[in-house]
Amino acid sequence: MPSNIVIAIDGPAGAGKSTVAALVAKKLGLKILDTGAMYRCVALKAIRIEANSEMHLGSLAESARIEFQPGEPQRVILDGEDVTEQIRTLQVGKRASEVSVFPSVRGAMVKRQRKLVESGGCVLEGRDVTTVVAPDAGVKIFLTASIEERARRRWLENKAETLQAVVKDVVERDHRDYTRKDSPLTLSDDAVIIESFGLTPEQVADKITKLAKGK
Ligand code: DC
Repeated sequence: MPSNIVIAIDGPAGAGKSTVAALVAKKLGLKILDTGAMYRCVALKAIRIEANSEMHLGSLAESARIEFQPGEPQRVILDGEDVTEQIRTLQVGKRASEVSVFPSVRGAMVKRQRKLVESGGCVLEGRDVTTVVAPDAGVKIFLTASIEERARRRWLENKAETLQAVVKDVVERDHRDYTRKDSPLTLSDDAVIIESFGLTPEQVADKITKLAKGK
């Protein structure tokens, strides 16, 4: 396996991408790039300053300082503030899905994400990483599970909302992520599909690690 290998994982909300990406990165000694966290940072900023127009959101995406620092989970720093926990709420996730439909927001994020993976040695995950951000990745995965399973997992992680509210959110998010005009979530021809139902995150990570080691 080349040390600068890039492993790209796409999939819908709640498929377990973040957990699996962290495990794979740890096993193989690679960096992690959580692209969803970057959209969530833009969303948090948009909520705070009530930015709604595409122009405003685009300039906000350009100017936001987003950094990652080591930790378990990896720390997310927005304009110098640790927002790791704040960006994980249902409200921020929904807003992230909304702001990510705008080409100006996507353009700013993709430019930064490509720079971050330029040197390789990275596991990245999101909705467009196998198709747009890193189409030449050495390993491409589409990680998925049924809507019910994904909602159940999200709910178990954070029971602040009812299960019904989480199911509704996942359905809405799927619709927006799959149908937006600019780089919708799609299955790349050369991606390996992994259905995570009935598998532990470790088992999924092992499958991906094996694929990487075969390169
Ligand atoms: O993976 P996540 O739940 O943290 O992502 C939050 C939202 O961000 C998701 O609903 C759509 C958007 N997103 C995106 O459009 N492209 C990505 N590469 C990652 C996330």
